[in-house]
Amino acid sequence: MSSSSRIDQIAGHLNYPKGLLAGQVAIITGSGQGIGAETARLFAKEGAKVVVSDIDGKKASDVADSIKAAGGSATSVAGDMLDDNYINELVKKAAEFGNGKIHIIVNNAGYTWDGVIHKTTDKQWETIIALHNTAPFKLVRAAAPYFRVKDGEPRCIINISSTSGLHGNAGQANYALAKAGVTGLTKTIAKEWGPQYGVRANTVAFGHILTRLTAAKEAGAFITTPDGQKVALGIPTGKGALASAAAKEQYTDIPLRRPGTATEAAGAVLAVCSPLFAYVNGQTISVTGGRNM
Ligand SMILES: NC(=O)c1ccc[n+]([C@@H]2O[C@H](COP(=O)([O-])OP(=O)(O)OC[C@H]3O[C@@H](n4cnc5c(N)ncnc54)[C@H](O)[C@@H]3O)[C@@H](O)[C@H]2O)c1
Repeated sequence: MSSSSRIDQIAGHLNYPKGLLAGQVAIITGSGQGIGAETARLFAKEGAKVVVSDIDGKKASDVADSIKAAGGSATSVAGDMLDDNYINELVKKAAEFGNGKIHIIVNNAGYTWDGVIHKTTDKQWETIIALHNTAPFKLVRAAAPYFRVKDGEPRCIINISSTSGLHGNAGQANYALAKAGVTGLTKTIAKEWGPQYGVRANTVAFGHILTRLTAAKEAGAFITTPDGQKVALGIPTGKGALASAAAKEQYTDIPLRRPGTATEAAGAVLAVCSPLFAYVNGQTISVTGGRNM
């Protein structure tokens, strides 16, 4: 190779944009752990400036620190998505961090508070709808001035849903309604902000992804509601041989015969936000290993 073509090659490499999301500012709610944390890490690897948002301040700052230690750009803003003041503060701090710009919102924060219909309390119902529907709406509304802009840069909103929202799930009337609801919110954003501003909005619906939400309930994870009630997270498994038989049985309806990892789930969110999906808008992308085809 001649020295000039070698120099061209190096110069070309240096000028190449640094990642699929180079320079974009992304708010990811619930990114202190699980799918959100993996999304934050993948986004940062692809050049995004990531705002790690979570009710758990220690976990949020740990994720942001791990991104910075790996050479990425991140900040953490801790708070409760059920608190209107926090939502406004999150947008303000994200815009400061992004020098006046926000390009991506991933509405991911959430948990399940299951109950069969005849035993579900008003509080169970209202908390889950507030967290999975009202909070994403309020965040998108608060961030509107950063999305309704014509600066030629990409803008993308992702709402996280679930197969429970697409197909229903016994014991999850509240969560199924909420996760169905975000698909309507997504399509409305796409129709309102697509024509003039080019904002894309899509829903990513997960099947069984390995996080604390799908771990054994007996592991003891819980979340605390604003009024101090502890909600146990996870799926009850039972004990012994019955439990391992049940564990094997539960993957028979997944063509890939396994649950997904948080990294695989995050990869789908990255793909949808990336320029490779530039003409995909208003859609619900199922990330399920083929379950529920
Ligand atoms: N794990 C699955 O199989 C699965 C399947 C379908 C959909 N989902 C959805 O994916 C999203 C992420 O779930 P995950 O499995 O990574 O769970 P996770 O529990 O590992 O992470 C969720 C994060 O959201 C945060 N959070 C919860 N309530 C909050 C609040 N009020 N304010 C701010 N942050 C809050 C938690 O602190 C936690 O860090 C959720 O919306 C969930 O419903 C998960």
